[in-house]
Amino acid sequence: FERENEVSYTLKTQRGETQLKEGRKTATMGYNGSYLGPILKMRKGQTVHIKTENNLSEETTFHWHGLKIPSDVDGGPHSPVEPNQTAQIDFEVNQEAATLWFHPHALGTTAEQVYYGLAGLIYVEDEQTDRLDLPKEYGVNDFPLILQDRNLDENNQLDYERSYNPDGVYGNTLLVNGTLNPYVEVKNEKVRLRLVNGSNARNYQLALNNQARFYQIASDGGFLEEPVEMTSLVLAPGERAEIIIDLEDYPEGETIQLMDGETTVLDIGVKGTTDVKKELPRKLNTIPVRETSDSLPVKKMTLAGMGYMVSIDGKQFDMNRIDMEETQGETAIWEIYNAPDMMGGMAHPFHVHGLQFKIISRDGKTPPLNEQGWKDTVLIEAGETVQLELEFPEKGIFMYHCHILEHEDVGMMGQVEVK
Ligand code: C2O
Ligand code: CU
Ligand code: CU
Repeated sequence: FERENEVSYTLKTQRGETQLKEGRKTATMGYNGSYLGPILKMRKGQTVHIKTENNLSEETTFHWHGLKIPSDVDGGPHSPVEPNQTAQIDFEVNQEAATLWFHPHALGTTAEQVYYGLAGLIYVEDEQTDRLDLPKEYGVNDFPLILQDRNLDENNQLDYERSYNPDGVYGNTLLVNGTLNPYVEVKNEKVRLRLVNGSNARNYQLALNNQARFYQIASDGGFLEEPVEMTSLVLAPGERAEIIIDLEDYPEGETIQLMDGETTVLDIGVKGTTDVKKELPRKLNTIPVRETSDSLPVKKMTLAGMGYMVSIDGKQFDMNRIDMEETQGETAIWEIYNAPDMMGGMAHPFHVHGLQFKIISRDGKTPPLNEQGWKDTVLIEAGETVQLELEFPEKGIFMYHCHILEHEDVGMMGQVEVK
């Protein structure tokens, strides 16, 4: 049922078969279907009820990446749903419009379950969404794009074990919303792409094939203050970005490609014309700035290692150990250093549950404009130090971890207890 201030969903994990490529179908996992899942739409202020059901033969969890909700409904490794079990999730939406996502978070098997297809989208909407004159017609000028690289073997199968690498499973095939070589037809207007990096480990460097400018309008947790003009965008695992591509001056029949290096991510064809021209809103959001006169203690954290040796502050995940403590509703500063090793080290996308944070600095410098909005995942290069300003809105125990899912499973994860 659906009442104005309430919305209900059912999510069932299941195994299935998907026609990804010509030839044999691929054995996959999905929510309510054979691969990926539905878009859960919810509004700020709404009460959400989700009935979760696990139809796999192994345990899973249902984690809502980016939602500001209490830890008992956050779906971390503490909340397994066993095979053939259900669990009822209820929460209130206390955050602004954003494109979020959900995926499993079971202890040690997150990477494999996501790899086989368990992931879905959450659209949070609010008055801002209603008010802003942005493209918002789903499938017409507003498209979600879940980017995932996968290895399909000679029988079109995803063999996680065979592809396994403790530093992250990379694939030779790009799937976008579970599709190979996706193509969309649009009018000559502004088109909105909601990009989600749902890959296990790969970073994307996105650009248009003609080097045209595009505009980032939202980061992980909501709209940016203003559209940010750019020609290339890096998206790390777990991160989201909404961009606007302006096709108003493109003639009928023109095509343009969104690229990741040499790989085509999306083919866009201009078909049909419209005379409607729209300016992008100048002002999208107001991101509050904290008075910096009060000096907060800086809590330091070090990411290190590679493969099975990855660690946070020299430790690997232990469900029975609390690594950090914070106070509900109080601002904290975390300084995260990614220690390089003799080989140089690697970049880690650092993610925190239960909140949206702000990036204060990268190596002491103000972050780029497109990183000055709400974030829940930040890519930290080897040797780099990043300062975050965080405030947990809810109490409980929340995870923070590297979003290279194999690193998370190996134990590059800690727990913060919010009191
Ligand atoms: Cu997207 Cu702890 O996860
Ligand atoms: Cu998360
Ligand atoms: Cu990592």
